[in-house]
Amino acid sequence: MVPVLVSSKLKSLLIPLTRVVVFTGAGISAESGVPTFRGQNGLWNEFRVEDLATPQAFAAHPQQVWEWYSWRRELISKITPNQGHSAVAHFERFFSSFCLVSQNVDGLHDRAGNQRILKLHGDIWEVRCISCGLRRMDFRPVLSPLPPRCECGGMLRPGVVWFGEMLPSDVFERAVRETQSCDLFFSVGTSAEVFPAAQLPGIARQHGAYVVEVNIERSAAAHVAHEVLLGKAGEILPELSACLRGALAGPGSELAG
Ligand code: OAD
Repeated sequence: MVPVLVSSKLKSLLIPLTRVVVFTGAGISAESGVPTFRGQNGLWNEFRVEDLATPQAFAAHPQQVWEWYSWRRELISKITPNQGHSAVAHFERFFSSFCLVSQNVDGLHDRAGNQRILKLHGDIWEVRCISCGLRRMDFRPVLSPLPPRCECGGMLRPGVVWFGEMLPSDVFERAVRETQSCDLFFSVGTSAEVFPAAQLPGIARQHGAYVVEVNIERSAAAHVAHEVLLGKAGEILPELSACLRGALAGPGSELAG
């Protein structure tokens, strides 16, 4: 593992009073074993969005759509958050103003300990009734029979945002407000190809935040970043987390113990 070179500018911002937003995508969960959507072995290379992740697909083939979500729920239920998720949970405890905005539906940030998460694309563990609108969490990996039914008799759908659907507007508006008012914005493990979420790094930059991308390769939003830290989120974020501990210990702490 190559040590991350943390610039003096970034180091100077790793103090409790800095207002921080962390924006995450599928790449932060890749090291836990959750497939990403694009790139090598990406889900969208193997499956068609039109068959599985649109309201039209669900209307035409609810069982087929549910089988795919069931497969993903089962896969996610067997894995654990990685060191990248743990570092983000540490950020939430360290910075007095902190917001996590995630495109991920896998629930791994919750399991790592983050309490306040703006989930732009919903949550794979939520089920929603298409008749009465009831929403609830259901953490059983496999629901049977498929498609599952609500107490009212209506069909349940996964509580995720599909292509062609609007993001929950209150959640997106809060994410934009947090992004507009932060000092430091991290874009982690996202290709930044899906809008409107992908606007956030640019909004952060326009409003004066210092923008840092963490990715194994430059994303579509890399051009708005002040710094791109190339490498795995599960390696880079823990190094930044260690800098936070250093910031609390203060100068000279490296001589202690
Ligand atoms: P993508 O699959 O588009 O992008 C994953 C990103 O993670 C890529 O830029 C990779 O280079 C990077 N990456 C992979 N492994 C990494 C690692 N170990 N550390 C750091 N970076 C790594 O996933 P998203 O950007 O999240 O939408 O995709 C956005 C949306 O598209 C998803 O929320 C989903 C999808 O279709 C919906 O379901 C609505």
